[in-house]
Amino acid sequence: MLRRPGWLVLGSGWWEKVESMAPPSLRHLVTGGAGFVGSTLVDRLMEAGEEVICLDNYFTGCKANVARWIGHPHFELIRHDVTEPIRLEVDRIWHLACPASPRHYQSNPIKTAKTSFLGTYNMLGLASRVGARLLLASTSEVYGDPEVHPQPESYRGSVNPIGIRSCYDEGKRIAEALCFDYMRMHGTEIRVARIFNTYGPRMAPDDGRVVSNFIVQALRGQPLTLYGDGSQTRSFCYVDDLVEGLIRLMNGNHTGPINIGNPGEFTILQLAEQVLQRINPELPLTYLPLPQDDPLQRQPVIDLARAELGWEPQVTLEQGLGPTIAHFRSVLGLE
Ligand SMILES: NC(=O)c1ccc[n+]([C@@H]2O[C@H](COP(=O)([O-])OP(=O)(O)OC[C@H]3O[C@@H](n4cnc5c(N)ncnc54)[C@H](O)[C@@H]3O)[C@@H](O)[C@H]2O)c1
Repeated sequence: MLRRPGWLVLGSGWWEKVESMAPPSLRHLVTGGAGFVGSTLVDRLMEAGEEVICLDNYFTGCKANVARWIGHPHFELIRHDVTEPIRLEVDRIWHLACPASPRHYQSNPIKTAKTSFLGTYNMLGLASRVGARLLLASTSEVYGDPEVHPQPESYRGSVNPIGIRSCYDEGKRIAEALCFDYMRMHGTEIRVARIFNTYGPRMAPDDGRVVSNFIVQALRGQPLTLYGDGSQTRSFCYVDDLVEGLIRLMNGNHTGPINIGNPGEFTILQLAEQVLQRINPELPLTYLPLPQDDPLQRQPVIDLARAELGWEPQVTLEQGLGPTIAHFRSVLGLE
């Protein structure tokens, strides 16, 4: 039987369109699917009726993030490390497996570099063998500590190749290079998203990134820790906006690299003030020195995403902080 969306084969050989017949679903592999972004993507795919294989080694992710789908006939969960090859029959590969917060990726930098290089190499090998399209979750960290502000995709970056962040920054740069070499050598279908700071429910409370740090400290009644004088800037994208951008990129024709982020730029001090206003304005701030190679400013140019994907973020920082704080309240047992 031909799998053709919306059409039914009649005995006479004629085709009759049956509007109510659902199109056949694709089989999606989400590496890092038990993580913060990956599990939000898994929800979107499952809710759309797709088949999903979630693959994770649970380094920073956890089963609880995908627990609602365990037992669903369209869902499979595999414990696997992407540094090892795997054989699967899939149509789409969303390659997100990699620790994203400095605290985690610096805890074993050699493993992080292996995950970025070998993990992407193994997934591209799989994609080219089975003819799947692969989307790489790359990062704004490929721009390093940028001399160009805000950052368009054409900017080639300013990364310290031997610093404490380079396992991640250079890891993602070689992962991007591998994608384009697989496309040029083997015709592999690739999509590359450069993701800027993203926040939202399912962030781990111990991940050490600024949004989770501030919220967790404020909920625990502790002073908020600022590194430097708090004048460094970041842009913060709500996770639902990011996932929408990733889905449009995967489904569209543009290869990327393409920036997916929220161009609203805030100083770290402004973020601290917004968190305090919502949780406890009485709490003090404490200041510590800036970590090595911490970028001073970060803001995406998203003209390409607007033009190619018809995408731009819908959720402001003010709107996104509410559900994020509610998530941490629940994780910390403060409800
Ligand atoms: N969240 C952000 O702000 C952000 C920004 C830029 C890029 N990204 C990228 O998006 C992706 C997802 O990030 P996230 O914020 O959800 O991080 P996360 O740490 O919550 O998720 C990463 C997932 O990958 C899994 N993983 C790590 N190493 C693995 C390995 N070797 N084999 C199999 N699984 C492994 C972890 O257990 C976790 O479930 C990452 O590739 C990250 O680099 C995220």
